[in-house]
Amino acid sequence: MQIGRANAVDFRNYRTLSLTPARRLNVFSGPNGQGKTNLLEALGLLVTGRSFRTPRTAEIPRWGSRSTSVTGDLVRADGTPVAPRTVRRTIEGLDDGTWQNSGESVEWARAIAFGWQDLEIVNGAPLARRSFIDGFAGRLYPVHLKALIEFRQLLARRNRLLQQRSGDAATRAQLEPWNDQFATVGMDLVNRRRRAVAALQTELARVYGALCAARSKVEIRYRTALGEASDAAALLAALERARLEELRRGQTLVGPHRDDLAIEIDGVDARAFGSRGQQRLVALALRLAEVLPVTEAAGTAPVLLLDDALSELDPAVREQVVRELDGAEQVFLTTPEPPTVTGAAVFYVHAGGVAAA
Ligand SMILES: Nc1ncnc2c1ncn2[C@@H]1O[C@H](COP(=O)(O)OP(=O)(O)O)[C@@H](O)[C@H]1O
Ligand SMILES: [Mg+2]
Repeated sequence: MQIGRANAVDFRNYRTLSLTPARRLNVFSGPNGQGKTNLLEALGLLVTGRSFRTPRTAEIPRWGSRSTSVTGDLVRADGTPVAPRTVRRTIEGLDDGTWQNSGESVEWARAIAFGWQDLEIVNGAPLARRSFIDGFAGRLYPVHLKALIEFRQLLARRNRLLQQRSGDAATRAQLEPWNDQFATVGMDLVNRRRRAVAALQTELARVYGALCAARSKVEIRYRTALGEASDAAALLAALERARLEELRRGQTLVGPHRDDLAIEIDGVDARAFGSRGQQRLVALALRLAEVLPVTEAAGTAPVLLLDDALSELDPAVREQVVRELDGAEQVFLTTPEPPTVTGAAVFYVHAGGVAAA
């Protein structure tokens, strides 16, 4: 798919924004603090209806504004020429102090965003890896994100009951009606994450191999205390086994909220033993590896939003990344340096304005 045109009003540091991107590679160049990342965020919101940067929509309207809107054309480019889908997304402050995010969803529209905070996926805490795999699974199976919200509610309810510490028998009776649901929704999450990891594995190995000249191998696995079990009964049994410990600690101790991903380079843990350079490459490779599975799932290629992706890399690796991007569909790449990529449409970003070079 492609973004054919994008306009925004009062989005972050843009009063108005108007962009007609090229069909393939677009480079946004300009000094820091001018609005490059904001621009990627606006494009991501246009495509997906959500910010890849923050769940707090109140941050997005330009300071002092009560609303923002992003409109544009999404083109489904899969060989057959079809009319673009015009979408409009708005974020509005309501009188009761809440913010409303509205706009229709486009079932085939996907964006994959990368920024160097993604290094956390490789070297950060398990939460960063769970967020990564949930985001990816959500792009493959849209039902995943709804299930995740439901799971979080069930988890919070379970934890509240455990924290009341009303004694084993009473708590057990109170938990009883929730456990089945927790186990069913929880195991569905685990199974979709496992499928997502399997879908990623081959591409991850290929992309990582393409980016680094060294014949190094990277592997990703799903890690859960549930082992290979894949039915809800196994999670239910694990809850039963953990019952006394859960009562003692006042929290839910088994389930997808405790799982993690193992990422290994040549058989060793990338988090503990990878060099900073290797970790960077894996982080970028993870995002690029999403492209093919997401294309297959959505029926059209995702838009890539790459924030400053070429900095921090050796010149030789940069070249490989650019080569890899050649095979992608529409790409938006920011850089604080003068652009060196050939064949790209270049835009300069300055003080909340964007202009074609
Ligand atoms: N809601 C907002 N309203 C107005 N300005 C904002 C808002 N959110 C962020 N900014 C400003 O946007 C500026 C540019 O941000 P950013 O896109 O991250 O710059 P770049 O990526 O070019 O370094 C920052 O100086 C920040 O203060
Ligand atoms: Mg930035």
